[in-house]
Amino acid sequence: MLIDQTQIQARVEALGAQIAADYGANSDLLLVGVLKGCTMFMMDLARAIDLPLTFDFIAVASYGASTESSGVVRMIKDLETDLAGRHVLIVEDIIDSGLTLAYLRSQLLRRNPASLRICTLLNKPERRKADVPVDYLGFDIPNEFVVGYGLDYAERYRNLPYIGILKPEVYSQ
Ligand code: XMP
Ligand code: MG
Repeated sequence: MLIDQTQIQARVEALGAQIAADYGANSDLLLVGVLKGCTMFMMDLARAIDLPLTFDFIAVASYGASTESSGVVRMIKDLETDLAGRHVLIVEDIIDSGLTLAYLRSQLLRRNPASLRICTLLNKPERRKADVPVDYLGFDIPNEFVVGYGLDYAERYRNLPYIGILKPEVYSQ
């Protein structure tokens, strides 16, 4: 166990309050969740943001069943919402190399949003390869492969209510 349910809940509440204060009631905020890892975090975060808002989802692939990023990012599901003139907040589970978000950010900026910010639950600063600005951060974590609260290894463990470090023997053969 790395981060327990109580710690997650407290941090999500604080992030939600900070986001609500920063954007304000007239921002017509759009949360863009990056599937599937964002799901638990995004649903808790959305409930902690006391503003009128809408949400949409995008899906990209970079990992498959491996724990290392290939650096190649592919869009699997696009948004349904027109971003032009919207205040967009990307909601991610984790930033590792930063390659996924650097790609997504550049793609979404081409659609002329009024603003584009990034919120991630977890961040592995040691592993960064691409420079991405993180506006809202839950926790910095060490360079370990983590699962739970939406994060998976080969699609498993997403339903754990806490964030745990995956034992290397699970993925090292
Ligand atoms: P990059 O390297 O592009 O990777 O920043 C971001 C995506 O990689 C996945 N990822 C993880 N997934 N435990 C996971 O379950 C981890 O420790 C981990 N590190 C990276 C994740 O899907 C993220 O969107
Ligand atoms: Mg993932």
